[in-house]
Amino acid sequence: MTSLNVPQRTSVGRGVNRVEIAYDDVGSGPVVVLLHGYPFNRTLWRDQVAALQEGHRVIVPDLRGHGGSGIVPGPATMELMAGDIAGLLDNLKIEQAAIGGLSMGGYVALAFCRLFPFRVQSLILAATRAQADNDEAKQNREVQAAKARREGMKGIADALLPKMLTAETVAKRPEIVKHVRGMMASTNPEGAAAALQGMATRQDQTSFLSEIVAPTLILVGSEDAITPPADAELMNREIKGSRLQIIERAGHVLNLEQPGEFNAALRRFLSGVEG
Ligand code: MLT
Repeated sequence: MTSLNVPQRTSVGRGVNRVEIAYDDVGSGPVVVLLHGYPFNRTLWRDQVAALQEGHRVIVPDLRGHGGSGIVPGPATMELMAGDIAGLLDNLKIEQAAIGGLSMGGYVALAFCRLFPFRVQSLILAATRAQADNDEAKQNREVQAAKARREGMKGIADALLPKMLTAETVAKRPEIVKHVRGMMASTNPEGAAAALQGMATRQDQTSFLSEIVAPTLILVGSEDAITPPADAELMNREIKGSRLQIIERAGHVLNLEQPGEFNAALRRFLSGVEG
């Protein structure tokens, strides 16, 4: 699954925020929902879907504005996207699940945990952080959103690529480079701009971390240039009983760069928390 296969679809949300969400729903067993980052899509999780579907029901949605999901005018806030996931679970008649997210998907997973704590059986936070953007980062999001609308995603994809992957991956693993660049370049510029504006206005979730009661696994690449290990260590200090694994020779997209270690950590964690 490196390109988008034909997804299932469902409508979630109300009024102007009603949106169609595309998703894959594979396997059977305890439910694991994995949320991709910006500006990716559900194929980010191809290796995890393959590894977990034996023994789990794995649900990978395209967040609003990304992949095959719809776009709604206005900022795609983390709360709106968390609400979309709750709506998806409602439509699938799923009460509780393991909720995981990478980067922006992690911001959404944290918002989901804050808004719908009883629906989170366990939490997986990969290459993400609890802090909000500082002023400089907010301004840069506005610049990037305007650039996406004006020029499309190709230039943004080229500029982001070396921040997403280690230098070693960029130099030696063309298939991963192609997949990551392909996801970024194919994201709808309006959807990307909406996500950028949503991330710029996201709230700081640091003070919420100590309220999390769900078992939590935190994963980060040792060479992550966007959400460095220090961000993961902060979450690990604040979330009671959380486990942190730093994966070597991996950057921001650690699940694609080191799928063996990433999947082993996921499996170990899930088998420990599933009753
Ligand atoms: C992501 O991978 O989702 C983004 O890099 C997150 C961000 O820009 O803060």
